[in-house]
Amino acid sequence: MQDVNVVEHPLVRHKLTLMRDKDLPTREFRALAGEVGMLLGYEALRDLPLETVTIETPLQTMQAPRLAGKKPVLAPILRAGIGFLDGLLALLPTARVAHIGLYRDPDSLEAVEYYFKAPGGLDQRLILVLDPMLATGGTAVAAIDLLKRKGARNLRFVCLLAAPEGIARLHEAHPDVPIWTAAIDARLDDHAYIVPGLGDAGDRIFGTR
Ligand code: URA
Repeated sequence: MQDVNVVEHPLVRHKLTLMRDKDLPTREFRALAGEVGMLLGYEALRDLPLETVTIETPLQTMQAPRLAGKKPVLAPILRAGIGFLDGLLALLPTARVAHIGLYRDPDSLEAVEYYFKAPGGLDQRLILVLDPMLATGGTAVAAIDLLKRKGARNLRFVCLLAAPEGIARLHEAHPDVPIWTAAIDARLDDHAYIVPGLGDAGDRIFGTR
C-alpha cells in the first residue's frame, strides 16, 4: 500500500473505539474528534522543518530550534473536516486555515465546489487536508485538485478512518500526497459508508442525525 501512516498509539485506538459506539452522545463524539485530530496531526507534523535561533534564557544565551518557514495551512473539507480543526489549532495555533466546500452532484456524482477561501502563498506552505472519512476518495481528490490548481505543492491528508477504495483512488490521482489515519476499515457498503466505520461523521459531530 502507498504512503499510508496508520497512527497506532493506544490513545488513538481507544478514542476511536469510543467514537465508533453508536450510542456515544454528540458532545463526546465532537470532543473526541478534536482530540484524535490533534493526535493525528502531531504525527503528521513530525518532520516540520526547524531553524536554529539565538535566545536568552534567564541564565544564559543559547542556540535553540524553532519552526522555520511559512505557517502551515489546515484545510478542512466542509463540513466534517471542521470537526478536526480545533484540535489541530490547539497544536499549531499560528496555522492558517483554508476552507473547502464541496458537495456531490446527485446526477453526475461529481464533486462540485461551492466555497473556497485560502491564504496566499499556498505554493510555499505545508497543507494538511482534513476530512474524518476517506470513503470513495472522490471528495479528497477533488479538494486536492482544487488546492493544486491554486498553487499547493506540499500536501498531506489527515483522516480518522480510511477505506481501501478511498486510499487507492487518492493514491492513483495524487501519489505525492501521504495519508495519516487512525485505522483502515474493511470496505464500503452500497451507500459508500465505511464498514464497520462510525456512521456519518458530519452528523455525529454536529448532532444532525
Ligand atoms: N462519510 C461519512 O461520514 N461516513 C462514512 O462512512 C463515509 C463517508
